[in-house]
Amino acid sequence: MRIKYTIPIFFIVALVIIEKENNIISRVSDKLSLKQTPQTPLQPSRSSGSSPENGSSTALSKSASAFTLMKRRLENYSEHQGATAWGRKHILLLATTRTGSSFVGEFFNQQVDNMFYLFEPLWHVEKILTLRTGGTNATVAAKAYRDVFRQLFLCDFTLLESFIRPQPTNHVTAALFRRESSSSLCEESVCSPFIKGVFESYHCRNRRCGPLNLTMASRSCQQKEHRVIKSVRVRQLETLRPLAEDPRLDIKFIHLVRDPRAVLASRIVAFAAKYKNWKQWAMGNNVRLDDDEVKKLKGNCDNIRMSAEAGLRQPPWLRGRYMLVRYEDIARFPMKKATEMYAFTGIPFTEKVKSWIVTNTRAARRPGGVYSTQKNSAEQVEKWRFSIPFKIAQVVQKVCGPTLKLFGYKFVNSEEMLTDKSISLIEDKTFNF
Ligand SMILES: *[C@@H]1O[C@H](CO)[C@@H](O)[C@H](O)[C@H]1NC(C)=O
Ligand SMILES: *[C@@H]1O[C@H](CO)[C@@H](O)[C@H](O)[C@H]1NC(C)=O
Ligand SMILES: *[C@@H]1O[C@H](CO)[C@@H](O)[C@H](O)[C@H]1NC(C)=O
Ligand SMILES: *[C@@H]1O[C@H](CO)[C@@H](O)[C@H](O)[C@H]1NC(C)=O
Repeated sequence: MRIKYTIPIFFIVALVIIEKENNIISRVSDKLSLKQTPQTPLQPSRSSGSSPENGSSTALSKSASAFTLMKRRLENYSEHQGATAWGRKHILLLATTRTGSSFVGEFFNQQVDNMFYLFEPLWHVEKILTLRTGGTNATVAAKAYRDVFRQLFLCDFTLLESFIRPQPTNHVTAALFRRESSSSLCEESVCSPFIKGVFESYHCRNRRCGPLNLTMASRSCQQKEHRVIKSVRVRQLETLRPLAEDPRLDIKFIHLVRDPRAVLASRIVAFAAKYKNWKQWAMGNNVRLDDDEVKKLKGNCDNIRMSAEAGLRQPPWLRGRYMLVRYEDIARFPMKKATEMYAFTGIPFTEKVKSWIVTNTRAARRPGGVYSTQKNSAEQVEKWRFSIPFKIAQVVQKVCGPTLKLFGYKFVNSEEMLTDKSISLIEDKTFNF
């Protein structure tokens, strides 16, 4: 007698559940940002509030099969969207050296609970591909960079491993470049037991860990909601087009640029050996400035400008996927720019990140190395103007003119103008995306 009533009741319950799931489907189609933990993808919501009590086993299995059907329909839906998981974002932060990319990378690195952040994984790739002449073959490097990015975004370290020296054994390495700069690689879940006596070039500072087990890193990566990679090594945005067209990634690019005069001034200090000709020449020590040096500077500027032009042109493959950000704007209005960047990525901007930004942009200046991310940003931003002579600014303006113009950096025409604090060299400019 009881079972007779129970079964129809469970059909009703199942219908209610189906209705709820349908709601979810339509909500998702409106807004593809339904949060899912990657480990339990596409499971029906457990909080439906209709969990049947004391049912017969047949009724339970009926409702279970309704769940399965829903699950399949939901999976079907996500396949149609071509995404591996709903709302998962893959963000590539592109920059060049000395543009504040470590600092901006922290905006994402700080959100460790749902973000898998990698700091300069291409360092290893570039190192292996560097030719005896000092540079890399742009075609070969571009393809390798792209392939490594793609795998890393999918939490696969295999290809990257092949570039790490010494080569990892059993997917364990003590040599991953700047491991400690990726919070994700120093979390408890990626921290294997500390081994005494093993030398690690790069080790976690927040806890004592053994060499990096990339299998553990990959698992942790899979469990994070979003993935962010920062790189200063990509030369042409165009070379990453296949990533933008990969439906598994739904990638977005944040392109960070900075006044080339400031970049050069900063490089002369940070990479003194590499830039010693510039320094000598700046000091007027009777040194001729190498044509190669000038060509290199021009090449860098042209690459950045061409990438930005491609992004701002918004070809179909880049539509909605490209954001240009000037370092100077981030330094002067960090919270505003971080908010914009998060809005662009579609990732919620958390209190934790906000408070990190407050602490690290207004706090008193702390000592730090050349890679320090802590700086009194607004004050830093035009400091370079007092560290280079006018003639260096002139050279940069000559070879990087179109780049300066595109990004809205004012030219200076005298030493006086260069060091006149009352004149800002940063024009107000918004870049549409
Ligand atoms: C369901 O079964 C549990 C024990 O299995 C019992 O304690 C509870 O009272 C039952 N609830 C209903 C609504 O029958
Ligand atoms: C999945 O989508 C295909 C194509 O639209 C459709 O034929 C199929 O019935 C769907 N499967 C489920 C379980 O909804
Ligand atoms: C780069 O490598 C490719 C493939 O190996 C080769 O065809 C090309 O000539 C190289 N380019 C330069 C500039 O060396
Ligand atoms: C790395 O981690 C995986 C997963 O925890 C484990 O199975 C494997 O044994 C570890 N590798 C080494 C060499 O410890």
